[in-house]
Order: sequence, then structure tokens, then C-alpha cells
Amino acid sequence: MIVHVKMTPPLEIKELSRVYSMGDVKVKALNNVSFEISRGEFVAIMGKSGSGKSTLLHQLGLLDMPTSGQIIFDGKNLLELSESLKARFRLSKFGYVFQEYALLPELSALENVYLPAIALGRNEDDYIKAGTEILEQVGLGARLHHRPRELSGAAGHCDCKSTYKQT
Ligand SMILES: Nc1ncnc2c1ncn2[C@@H]1O[C@H](COP(=O)(O)OP(=O)(O)OP(=O)(O)O)[C@@H](O)[C@H]1O
Ligand SMILES: [Mg+2]
Repeated sequence: MIVHVKMTPPLEIKELSRVYSMGDVKVKALNNVSFEISRGEFVAIMGKSGSGKSTLLHQLGLLDMPTSGQIIFDGKNLLELSESLKARFRLSKFGYVFQEYALLPELSALENVYLPAIALGRNEDDYIKAGTEILEQVGLGARLHHRPRELSGAAGHCDCKSTYKQT
């Protein structure tokens, strides 16, 4: 007997819309966008300026609330989560690399890397060890205690915060 199992894609975007209201003016930044992303798939979002790329990423990153639609991850609609569960989901599942630096200038490279782990309540020995290993992997093992302004531009852009989640 052959059993066909339909695999649900881990990330499904269903009819996502985001309308910005500014007084009487309504800007439809996203208009019923639907697509799926499979595990391990690498996706680039392209479009002309103003076409809604940043708006879409803000919705996918749970940083903004769409006007309508669903974001399904592993079968759950993430938009139905409470704010605290969304925060927890962001901390444990997502990595963001922003166009501008998202490093705290007063913290060292190591502290910047393990900050999300503190928010997740992981223990100190664990996050110092994991943070150190991550910085070593990206060639910054000798710069653990340097502040962001003491690192080169490219080093400051390392995706260390998201890497932490995979350890
Ligand atoms: N906070 C906001 N309030 C009102 N309108 C907004 C807001 N943010 C974006 N928009 C409008 O929504 C539309 C999509 O903007 P968005 O920033 O998502 O585009 P983009 O594709 O990221 O553009 P770019 O390539 O220039 O970064 C644009 O018309 C923009 O003016
Ligand atoms: Mg943009």
C-alpha cells in the first residue's frame, strides 16, 4: 500500500493585507499576499521601492499586525499568540539582520550576542559559553569584550544574535 502524506510547509502566508491609515488617506501596502516557504528554502523578497517589502518583513517578524490574513508556522497562526508569546517566539525562533546596526553601544560584543538568551531565561554559564563559541566561529574570539564602535563595520553586522538560537 502506498500512503501519500501531504507535508504542510512550515511557513504559510495566507491572504496577508496591511493598510496604513493616515487620516482619510489609506495606503494598501500589502494586498492579499499568499505564499509558502519550505524548510531549508532560501527566499529573497524583491520589488521596487514602496512595493511593500519592509511592510511584509515587519509582519513576518511579528513586529507589526496585519490588517487581515494569517501567518501559519508549523500549523499555528502566529497572529493569534499573545504579545508575550510572540516575544518568546521572536526570541527563540527568529534572527533579524537589520539594514542599520541593531547593537547596543554600551554592551560588549559578547553581551550583545547573549542578550536574547538572558531574555529567554537561560543560565549564565550556558549563555556565556554559547556566546563565546559563536563569536569564535565568526572570527571574533579575540574581540569578546570590545564595544561595537571598536569593531569593524562588517564585524558589527555579523548575524550572531540569530546564530545563538541554533546552538
Ligand atoms: N508607517 C507607515 N505609515 C504609512 N504608510 C506607510 C508606512 N510604512 C510604509 N508605508 C507605505 O507603504 C508602502 C510600502 O512601503 P514599504 O516601506 O513596505 O516599501 P519597500 O518595498 O520596503 O520600499 P523600499 O524599497 O523603498 O524600502 C509605501 O507606499 C509606503 O509609503
Ligand atoms: Mg524597505
